[in-house]
Amino acid sequence: MLQHIFPQVAQIPSEWQLQEFIEQREYLVNGELRIWEGPMNEVVSPVSIDNGNSIEKNIIGTTPLLTQKESLEAMDAAVLAYNNGTGEWPTMSITNRIAHVEQFLVEMKKQRGLVVKLLMWEIGKNLPDSEKEFDRTCIYIEDTIRELKKLDHNYSNFAVEEGVIAQTRRVPLGVALCMGPYNYPLNETFTTLIPALLMGNTVVFKPAKYGVLFIKPLLPIFKACFPKGVINVIYGKGRETVGALMETGKIDVFAFIGTNKGANDLKKLHPKPNRLRSVLGLDAKNPAIILPDADMDNAVTECVAGALSFNGQRCTALKIIFVQEDMVASFIQKFTEGVSKLKCGMPWEKDVKITPLPEPGKTAYLTELLNDAKQFGASVVNENGGEVNDTFFYPAVIYPVNAQMRIYSEEQFGPIVPIVSYKNIEEVIEYVIQSNFGQQASIFGKNSAMIGHLIDELANQVGRININAQCQRGPDSFPFNGRKDSAEGTLSVHDALRAFSIRLLISTKDNATNKEIVQTIVREHQSNYLRLDYIF
Ligand code: G3H
Repeated sequence: MLQHIFPQVAQIPSEWQLQEFIEQREYLVNGELRIWEGPMNEVVSPVSIDNGNSIEKNIIGTTPLLTQKESLEAMDAAVLAYNNGTGEWPTMSITNRIAHVEQFLVEMKKQRGLVVKLLMWEIGKNLPDSEKEFDRTCIYIEDTIRELKKLDHNYSNFAVEEGVIAQTRRVPLGVALCMGPYNYPLNETFTTLIPALLMGNTVVFKPAKYGVLFIKPLLPIFKACFPKGVINVIYGKGRETVGALMETGKIDVFAFIGTNKGANDLKKLHPKPNRLRSVLGLDAKNPAIILPDADMDNAVTECVAGALSFNGQRCTALKIIFVQEDMVASFIQKFTEGVSKLKCGMPWEKDVKITPLPEPGKTAYLTELLNDAKQFGASVVNENGGEVNDTFFYPAVIYPVNAQMRIYSEEQFGPIVPIVSYKNIEEVIEYVIQSNFGQQASIFGKNSAMIGHLIDELANQVGRININAQCQRGPDSFPFNGRKDSAEGTLSVHDALRAFSIRLLISTKDNATNKEIVQTIVREHQSNYLRLDYIF
């Protein structure tokens, strides 16, 4: 059924055609858009092209393969702009920092069309989801600005305790290295980048492995909207570029969304781990637990979307489904019906849900997982499940899955849905306890006593328990975290501002002289930190 899934060039609507090959040689260091003349990395679109005879690899652009030298220059620029906390940016008033970010946002919004189009071509995300990623990011920036004002108001007072007068402020940590994932290359990167900047840190930003070209239209905006060295953008292989930065010990905050292995390898390179704060979003293997009395239609709808939105390439995706044995047959029937209704196609096609995969070698990896599961007794239970054409993998629902199979514990991050049947709920609880991951879980059922019991059993295993709903990160005002190998730290609009800052306490003994000093500083606006003003 996938034979004609890829378009011929003439079949691509003109609105979505890429007008030209994008050679992206610029990178941003110290407020300069430098031009890279060295080796380049090919950007291969997951959307291959059907030339009538065969499926052709579709190279849509190139990006710089910078070396250690350029990435260290980028970091030095960030270090200089921070200047041990005395630079223009870390000492700038919050009002002025907000003004820079607001200016950035105005300009970024003008690039919506191009960014959305490039997201579709680079990572194969469908049009509504690409638009949502862009819009959600803009809203996230607006909410973060609002939250920062609130945070500042909350600290704009004095406390008097045991004869000590004190005021608390939140101040930056230093140089932040921000790296995002390919599945949300704009949104997830900006959910660390923007709070890092707003709190007064300077940043080295390395785009994700895929989803890189869309940064091109944003580079001149970064350059125009921030003082030099405040934001530096580098490209290239992670080990070569980022490893070198960590080894210097000059990175103060490591914001990384990716695998726990990648995060650990990089963290270990830092010579002074005590000086490094990590904000990490990592692997997950979120289970759905279908209880015997679950509303089947709702459970199926939520699980289909939860397991297969963006082809299962979400850290929050449902990656294994446990169904009580008495209802497993009817669940599989409805679930596979639901999967068969998902339209396959190219990202711009109307109502399309399943699209090609951006990671090279991904379809082979998924096939390997399927073969491994088959070897231990599982079958693909949906029509066409596991069919491959080049970068396209038709979703495979597999059953019965057991502990011998890799898919039971390995994060597939793609369109395979493993179903396990259980007799006693204790088997599922044990799975969650033994898992290396602890991001979220979804429980489907009606029996409140049973759901209450499960909540209590899972409460110390995962960061979020969803009742009769799929797992998800949003709303962004809610905490997003994970336990074990799934995360370090908590992100939300509010928490991210805390993650990229540290509290400063300014205190004095409560006597007449000190009170007069403090009052004069405040009245005469003699400090950027000790103050009582209100940011509207
Ligand atoms: O890839 C992980 C994302 O944070 C998931 O976000 O649940 O909104 O898709 P989402």
